[in-house]
Formats: sequence, structure tokens, C-alpha cells
Amino acid sequence: MTATAVRGHAISFRGDPFLVADALIDIEDALILTEDGIITAFGPWVQFRDRVPDGVDVVHYPDAILCAGFVDTHVHYVQTAIIGAFGAQLIDWLNSYTFKAEQRFADRAHAQAAATVFFDALLANGTTTALAFAAMYPQSVDAFFEESLRRGTRMIGGKVLMDRNAPEPLLDSPQTGYDDSKALIAKWHGRGRNQYAITPRFAPTSSPKQLELAGTLWRESPGTYVHTHVSENLNEISWVRELFPERSGYLDVYDHYGLLGPRTVLAHGVHLTDAERRRVFDAGAAIAHCPTSNLFLGSGLFALGAAKDPAAPLHVGFGTDIGAGTTFSLLTTMNEAYKVAALNSYRLDAVKSFYLATLGGATALALDDKIGSLAVGKEADFIVLDTKATPLLEYRTAHTDSVEELLFVLSIMGDDRAVAATYIAGTPAYLRHAAR
Ligand code: GUN
Ligand code: ZN
Repeated sequence: MTATAVRGHAISFRGDPFLVADALIDIEDALILTEDGIITAFGPWVQFRDRVPDGVDVVHYPDAILCAGFVDTHVHYVQTAIIGAFGAQLIDWLNSYTFKAEQRFADRAHAQAAATVFFDALLANGTTTALAFAAMYPQSVDAFFEESLRRGTRMIGGKVLMDRNAPEPLLDSPQTGYDDSKALIAKWHGRGRNQYAITPRFAPTSSPKQLELAGTLWRESPGTYVHTHVSENLNEISWVRELFPERSGYLDVYDHYGLLGPRTVLAHGVHLTDAERRRVFDAGAAIAHCPTSNLFLGSGLFALGAAKDPAAPLHVGFGTDIGAGTTFSLLTTMNEAYKVAALNSYRLDAVKSFYLATLGGATALALDDKIGSLAVGKEADFIVLDTKATPLLEYRTAHTDSVEELLFVLSIMGDDRAVAATYIAGTPAYLRHAAR
């Protein structure tokens, strides 16, 4: 048995703070005990200290917040090399930068090197689970999951499906896309902690036949995900109307082909109508809110308040959407989400932001029984956020009066410098002091 004991100020969630008042668990001096990768005790240090097995050292973080690992519900691992590409909105950005970058993933060695950089960046930012796009090449998926197996992380990913409106080398066909995805599901879904997402890029790059076969494959493959984009950009939405005039709207394209349900994750949804939001709710699908991407590409302001309307609250998680997004940090993502919400007359407090980055993300990925909070029986993926990471952060956090304020300051001023440690399955997978 491998046991780990960590002590410090811990926060977690017992519910959704968008819906209930007492969702936050706040324990100023807590013990997290893990055995063989699973949390076996979590609670006040004074009550639980006797549970630490003989011979197990307690790692104490006195100037920190401990919480569940961050969940990135939408990211492109194959776009790490094009973060910060200048001067374009969505469709031009795809054509000018993205499709070129993704063609390089035909090369297995390139994919492997990129996967290493990507996982290093996730862990250094406290992200322990991600739902990721690979490229269209199966070898780009293999590189992603092999890296995840090596690190012991819980990851979801898949091969992009595109059979039109992209450069020829990136195109599959309805049948080869189906066959390649099916083979990757057999190879990777349920191997280690990995799971597969059927990944039609977005409606414009898939023919009706490809979307139909994607729906067939999803029905044939229990426990897999559907991962795509919806209603990110106004020109994109107009294009979908031209390509699918027989459908009532963008979301209806996916609905028609049987691609909406629990385990469907739709990136963006910036311009969803009330009726479309209602359909996402009824289907049990989830939205990945990607504020840094939406700002960078000038896509628009996501209506978080409407998405989390208590009358029909959607499953929402945060996505970094690297490389349209500009940071791997879920803390920085919280900062930008706060500002996007503010421009939409919604006040996003940090309890809600930390929920979206942890248990909310886990719920969006239908993984809330396994990850997303500190609770007995859950997988022991958790992080240590240093409240004194920089002199300015130390000064500012010294002037806070409540855990809510402390979390808010972390969410506005924090970034990867605040991540002191990232534990995967109870084992330190990233230690800032060792990395520097
Ligand atoms: N829509 C279709 N493909 C993409 C992509 O790679 N990034 C973003 N942000 N939106 C997309
Ligand atoms: Zn994306």
C-alpha cells in the first residue's frame, strides 16, 4: 500500500454553489489521506490525525489552499505551438494557423514531443484532467494517451473528424473517420484512466454522412464522449445555416445526428439562443466556457448567468481552449471569466469559479463520482495553491478577511506561479520548487 498524508487549509464542494448556499466545504486545518491513489480520509486535522498510518510522513503546507485538481473541459493539445497567433477571428485563425499546425501531427515524433510539453504545462498549472482534441491522425491520439498512461492521469481525448472545408491532408472520409475512431476506442477507452471522445471538429467541417456515422459510433460505444464546438462566432453560425439550411439552427445539426446527450461536451456556446440552452439542458449535455479564447478571437461574451439559470442549469466547466485560448492556467481563466461575466452584468464570485474549475468541470464530464472534490473514495488528484507565491500575492492575501476573499484574490492574481504542487493519484507529479 502507498499512502500519502497532506495537511493544510483545504476547500472542496458538497454541491453546486450556483444552486445551493452551503456548497463550499472550508477546513482551515485539514488532512487529506490517500491510499493507493484513492482518498481514504478528508477532514479536520485534529479529528483525523490518528488515521495517518505509522511511518507515513505528513507533508504540511501552512501557506496554501489545497483543493481538487483543476479540470480543463476543452483544450487542443495539438495547438500548443500556436498560442498567441496574431490578428484573426475564428475562421481566418483556423485557416491561417491551426490547420497548418495540425498537419505536423502526421509525424509521430512531433506528436510525442508536443504531448510531453502539453502534459508538463497541464501539471504545472494544476490541471489534472482534460478533455482534449488531438489532430485527425490516429498517431496523434496514441501520443496523447501514451503520455497520459506514463503520468497516470485521468484524460479524455479523441481524433478529429473532418471530411470537408479543411486542407486535403487533414481530411478523412465518413468511413475512414468511423473506422479509425472505432479502432482508437478499442485501443484506448478504459485503458489506465483514459477515456475516448468522438470528436467531430464542428458542423462546417463534417458532411451530413460523417455526422451520421459519428452518431452511430457513439451509440455503439458505451461510456464514450462527444466533443465538438458550437455557436462560438457569428460568421461561423451563418456558415452553418448555409451548409445545413434544413436544420433549425446550429445546435439542431448535432441533435439531428444523435450527438446530444449526457457526455456531450460543447465548446463555447457563446451565441446560443434561449431555446438552444433549454435543449442542452434537456439533453443533459455540457458547455465548456472558454473565456480567454472568446476574448482573444473576439468571439463574444458567454452568458454564464443564463447558462446557470436555476430554472434550467446547464452543466458548465471551464475550458482553456489552447491554442485560441491564451493560458493553460485555470486561475487565469477564472480571472477572465470574472471580467466576461462583469461585461454581461453578472457577478461571478470565486466560490463559483473554483467550483467550475473543479467539481463543475468534473460534473460536465460526468466524472463527478471519481474526481472534482476532496471526498473519501474519490481519486486523489489534488493541488496545492501557494497564497504567498509572489511578494505581491503574499501582501495582498495577508489583507483578506474571509476564505471567499482569499479565493477571489487567488482567482484574479493567481497563475502557474501559485501552483506549488500537483498530486496525481496521491503522488506528487509536479513540485514547483523542484521544477525551478
Ligand atoms: N472551431 C472549430 N475548430 C476550432 C478550433 O480549433 N478552435 C476553436 N476555438 N474553435 C474551433
Ligand atoms: Zn476549441
